[in-house]
Amino acid sequence: MMKATKVTMEDIVSLAKRRGFVFQSSEIYGGISGFYDYGPLGVELVNNLKSLWWQASVKDHDNIFGVDGSIIQNPLLWQASGHVAGFTDPMVEDTVNHKRYRADQLAQTDSTDLHEIKELLKDRKSPDGNPLSEPRYFNMMMQTWVGPVEDASSMVYLRPETAGSIFTNFLNVRDTMRPKIPFGIAQIGKAFRNEISPRDFIFRVRELEQMELQYFINKSDQENAYSQWRNFAWNFLKETVGISESNLSWHEHKAEERAHYAVAAHDIYFNFPQGPKELWGTHNRSDFDLTSHSKSSGKDLSYFDESSGERYTPYVIESSVGVGRLVLAVLSDAYSTDTLGGDERNVLRLKPSLSPYKAAVSPLLKNRPELVAFASKLYTELKCGIGMVLWDDNGNIGKRYRRQDEIGTPFCVTIDFQSLDDGSVTIRNRDTTIQTRVAADKVLETLSLELKK
Ligand code: GAP
Repeated sequence: MMKATKVTMEDIVSLAKRRGFVFQSSEIYGGISGFYDYGPLGVELVNNLKSLWWQASVKDHDNIFGVDGSIIQNPLLWQASGHVAGFTDPMVEDTVNHKRYRADQLAQTDSTDLHEIKELLKDRKSPDGNPLSEPRYFNMMMQTWVGPVEDASSMVYLRPETAGSIFTNFLNVRDTMRPKIPFGIAQIGKAFRNEISPRDFIFRVRELEQMELQYFINKSDQENAYSQWRNFAWNFLKETVGISESNLSWHEHKAEERAHYAVAAHDIYFNFPQGPKELWGTHNRSDFDLTSHSKSSGKDLSYFDESSGERYTPYVIESSVGVGRLVLAVLSDAYSTDTLGGDERNVLRLKPSLSPYKAAVSPLLKNRPELVAFASKLYTELKCGIGMVLWDDNGNIGKRYRRQDEIGTPFCVTIDFQSLDDGSVTIRNRDTTIQTRVAADKVLETLSLELKK
């Protein structure tokens, strides 16, 4: 029986740590705020999500190409992109203990306008009860230095979004792949933001990974392309990732919410445990980026359309989602609790394509060599045939099933005494908990078919 209780952040954080999805970064030293590591199961989930996104964004299209840019780039890029001047969040400081806060979050507004925030915070104290400073903007780009001298000439930024190297490679991709407009460039990679208040586990972090796609178009096609990529994001979440539609909603940015480069922005919100929040952004960046980079670099980034004889600077429709935020959405959406034989069980109802392990193989008893030998042969066959298969002989069979349910393994294959008599094994389905007897030499075929569904 499914319970209707809503998943809490504590449920997800506890599952993530207990089962090896996500750990605090440098935990043995007390961790570091805004940084996380993916554990053995987390890295599989992340890789599955990234490969599904790459398939849908790059491989399924003839006119979209991948790049993998460096994290540190010429700092002139970030001046031209407007990030040096405009990649800021409003901040206030507790005037006594000097703790800093996101001013818009303290004021509970979507607006980043300092006058509006100042008005909203005028009678407010800090969470510690002390007077607050005036709100001011804080630039979120992280800095470091390249080479042996630490001065202004060697200062560089860790990229705050992956989009930068897509724009700086616009000419390279055109020259090497010869695409005609419309075409896109996609990238998966790390970005860094010195968030004032990292929060909500892996929702808002300082080191993040983004999956971004820039689609270069003629201005006249902006409405079509904008709706195409909004639909793409929704369908990817619903169909490919399997997130329930009831957890998704649209949020259109008002002018004051939009990033400095966007003329239109729609986010898909997911019902995270802490409330509905941005998961995936689609932006119309107009010709802002290519125009700025053209001016700043002195390179002509315009496009000549041979069929119409028109020369123009392409518009960009951007699709951007954070991998960690998607992991949090997937875990929250898939997490459920039900009762089985009077006991409560946690089940991660992941789509099999996302599950870290596709099947677990268990000999009923680990001290019976004939069961272990039978199971071991099948385990090797399944590992060759379907990849991520787990050997599990720890504890009683009920505990093993619970453990696999909790990490989202869709099938458990058990070798019992009947297997020795008639060569059949049981396949247990995670969601229905129904066990079916199947001939051992048909297990690979059966699971391969099930995993394709
Ligand atoms: N290139 C556009 C861009 O970076 P954004 O709305 O700032 O736009 C895009 O970020 C996506 O990256 C967000 O929808 C979110 O999924 C993810 N993201 C942004 N900041 C993040 C953070 N501090 N921690 C985790 N994910 C973040």
